[in-house]
Amino acid sequence: DAGIQQNLKRAVAKKAVELVKSGMIVGLGTGSTSSMAIEELGKLIAQNKLKDILGVPTSYQSRVLARQFGVKTVDLNDVNHVDIAFDGADEVDASMNLIKGGGAAHTMEKVVDSIAKQCVILIDQSKVVSKLGLAFSLPVEVLPFALSPVLRALVNLGGVPEIRTALRKDGPVITELGNMVVDVRFADGINNPAELENKINMIPGVVENGLFVNVAHKVFVATKDGEEILIV
Ligand code: A5P
Repeated sequence: DAGIQQNLKRAVAKKAVELVKSGMIVGLGTGSTSSMAIEELGKLIAQNKLKDILGVPTSYQSRVLARQFGVKTVDLNDVNHVDIAFDGADEVDASMNLIKGGGAAHTMEKVVDSIAKQCVILIDQSKVVSKLGLAFSLPVEVLPFALSPVLRALVNLGGVPEIRTALRKDGPVITELGNMVVDVRFADGINNPAELENKINMIPGVVENGLFVNVAHKVFVATKDGEEILIV
């Protein structure tokens, strides 16, 4: 039920921001769970429990929320490191490999999450899978100029690509970087995430795909076990 789901996300968001210390540069992920972490971070700053925090947004959404909740933001190019990044995910496997990009923000997320000294992924139990790509298609950001050769190359890799559209927008979704998103289904799921991540990124015209391998350092999973919320 939606209310329980919200409570679980809130619980991991609260737990996660406990890792932040004053003076840190914090990567701000995208999506509903990351949004709660931004809000919780803002609360700690407002309560003077944290000082001199700089946030690095991964999307307009996280930039707007940071402003709304009083988290000062900085451009990635104006800092020389990121201490910790919080982000959500669409799927997570037992090796902490991720599929991201359900919100079309995976390109900027991958840049920020990969350079963070600590990348913390915040999910509820529904995101944990035994194999990536069975339930969720893999998002790939593509240069519009290169769309049709990229679609053919994705088919050659065994995928069934579909250009992403949105409910209240005619035509393709255009990302914040001015590109299109192709969601690729793999009938048997993703057998080798590291290999597929590299193969897709080698296709000329692909900007970035949503496989995150060896990026996450910690995954906080909120599980509803009776009355108790467990954080793993
Ligand atoms: C954004 O493109 C995605 O990578 C998000 O991080 C992902 O969709 C998680 O969103 P929720 O926390 O809302 O599930």
